[in-house]
Amino acid sequence: GTHTVTTIAELRALLDERRAAGASVALVPTMGALHDGHFALVRRARELADVVAVSIFVNPLQFGPDEDLEKYPRTLEADVAALAGLGVDAVFAPGFDEMYPRGAEGGTTVHAGPIGVRYDGASRPGHFDGMLTVVAKLFNIAQPHVAVFGQKDGQQAFLVSRMVADLDLPVRLDVVPTVRESDGLALSSRNRYLDPVQRKAALVLVESLRAAEAAAADGLSELLAEGVAAFGDHEGVNLDYFVVVDPDTFLPIADDFRGRALVLVAAYVGSTRLIDNAYVQVG
Ligand code: PAJ
Repeated sequence: GTHTVTTIAELRALLDERRAAGASVALVPTMGALHDGHFALVRRARELADVVAVSIFVNPLQFGPDEDLEKYPRTLEADVAALAGLGVDAVFAPGFDEMYPRGAEGGTTVHAGPIGVRYDGASRPGHFDGMLTVVAKLFNIAQPHVAVFGQKDGQQAFLVSRMVADLDLPVRLDVVPTVRESDGLALSSRNRYLDPVQRKAALVLVESLRAAEAAAADGLSELLAEGVAAFGDHEGVNLDYFVVVDPDTFLPIADDFRGRALVLVAAYVGSTRLIDNAYVQVG
């Protein structure tokens, strides 16, 4: 059965018992409001380990003062029911005090390093430090053999893998491709903020990636021109950034770069901030 626990001690006891019996453990960290993107991670976790734990915690440390922490969707009952249907062994849904007994500012945190202040980190100061802090805690709480993340949040997946390498954390990472709606929009908990007109306008992100992909063979400047041009005439859509990075370093590629690169895009649709990314072959 699926055990829902709210304390670190309960989760540790449950997972320790299974580990002692020889079971491997997979962890899927989430903030809840679960959709098919999250469920793809859970299914992957099921394939990778004997025991699957899913955490549901809306982490205040990774939200800026003007961001959507208060209105972030919380659907715990439905989330737990769906996870039970997928055969998840443990749902860890701690409260704020359990995770941060010293408060939001009073404790030790992880610093993301230079890539943490670029792209999403430039638009969301402190976001990646807060994200890595909670992920490091979740790794130490659950001590998973493997943890599963989504390519949807490409910079996040990169920074988690950097943290694992730089801090020698004993966990393997697995990254699942982005799950999309039939029209291409990347699934996101924030899509539910969009009204029907905005929902249509939001397609500009994936369209810009497709345009970039189509132009990539002609080189970086063509790729950028076509990708950014996709944003031309969309009312209520504001491009935040459109960049092409080397997937190994997450630094912008040079003009003469040839090979596999990652296109990152972020835009505001109304007041909702959306991100997407796609691998392309440049040159
Ligand atoms: P959340 O936004 O809930 O996402 C949880 C995981 O689901 C992340 O690894 C994310 O990349 C993945 N995911 C979301 N949408 C996806 C999609 N359409 N396709 C594939 N995977 C998708 O990311 C977070 O929570 C938090 O930052 C967290 C890592 C839990 C730390 O608080």
